[in-house]
Amino acid sequence: MSHPLVRLATRLGYGARQLPRLAWYAGHGYALQQLAKEARRRAGDSPAPAPAPSSLPSQRRLYSDMAALLARDLANVESGIYPLPADRDGTLPMLLHRSRLFFKDLPDIHRRRESNGHDEVVTEETRGRRPRYYLQNFHYQSGGWMTEESADRYDTQVEVLFKGTANAMRRQALPQLHEIFAGKDQRKLHLLDIGCGTGRFLDFVKQAWPRLPVLGLDMSEAYIRHARRHLKSRSWTRFLVGNAEAIPLPDNSQNAVTSIFMFHELPPRVRRIVLSECARVLRPGGRLVIVDSLQRGDEPDYDGMLARFPQNYHEPYFASYLDEDFAGIARPLGLTHVRDVNAFVSKVMVFDKRTQDD
Ligand SMILES: C[S@@+](CC[C@H](N)C(=O)[O-])C[C@H]1O[C@@H](n2cnc3c(N)ncnc32)[C@H](O)[C@@H]1O
Repeated sequence: MSHPLVRLATRLGYGARQLPRLAWYAGHGYALQQLAKEARRRAGDSPAPAPAPSSLPSQRRLYSDMAALLARDLANVESGIYPLPADRDGTLPMLLHRSRLFFKDLPDIHRRRESNGHDEVVTEETRGRRPRYYLQNFHYQSGGWMTEESADRYDTQVEVLFKGTANAMRRQALPQLHEIFAGKDQRKLHLLDIGCGTGRFLDFVKQAWPRLPVLGLDMSEAYIRHARRHLKSRSWTRFLVGNAEAIPLPDNSQNAVTSIFMFHELPPRVRRIVLSECARVLRPGGRLVIVDSLQRGDEPDYDGMLARFPQNYHEPYFASYLDEDFAGIARPLGLTHVRDVNAFVSKVMVFDKRTQDD
């Protein structure tokens, strides 16, 4: 048990870092709602129909689950699993720049949502260079995964969606890694993060294990460039542009593979291929940690909200994700399902690669 003064300093430090960013992103969410109301008023539309209350979690439930997530995040810090997290959202001019990018894209998002337009990233330049399922305007955002602007806008968009808790949800993968890394020489371990995006999760991995060799793999050149910039001061950190359906690493080479918020964006067929690639590159005894959305039935109060999500954000494979049997797919691949841990609107799924003795 740490000294009460150290505990107090940790709690104050945590609050001083987290509360302003919650306010910042929740403030964006509030502005978004007001803009939508105003747009509907100008267009002479009637207000959006209120959803059936039984199908959605109450505001009280949402806020209490958010608070539970943050309390667990702090408890992980207090128990030494990871240091007081630095979210590194950027300087004030950078935050304002990203905020401007976020608001600038709203009219185009609205237009795509109204017309179900999600194929704008299929151009002469991109066609055939990426799988067809990948070339879509996920979240209806401009550029899909293909442009610098999209990469610069992404983290604001995700944090606004989750009211500033996206990073705290990502960090819930760390205790699952701590469990298998504890007592080992981090320099001799290897971690791969697939669909690493802008590198936010790897940043937290490196805050916890600065000398752990890590590799971030993503199919977007723009997102990988952003991730490289974000982690430029970190040693033992590499990034690769590549497809998680064919991970460019040898069999049995990784102690841990992680994937954050990616599996719900893969078609069912591709999900199976990517899972088999994770199993292939993991060493026997190695661990796969997936953080993604809650699935149907995990928290029944959230089922209605999850069912509605893909209509508002272009998420063509989300409905199939909600009922996907990950433990069932993983088993024949040599992966044993260890546990699921729900964390606000996300869940952490943990699998270990079986050894010969298992
Ligand atoms: C919703 S984002 C998640 C990014 C990041 N992991 C995070 O924590 O926010 C999904 C990411 O997966 C990447 N992706 C999707 N399909 C992929 C594939 N088959 N191979 C590699 N990356 C892929 C996208 O480029 C995008 O960066």
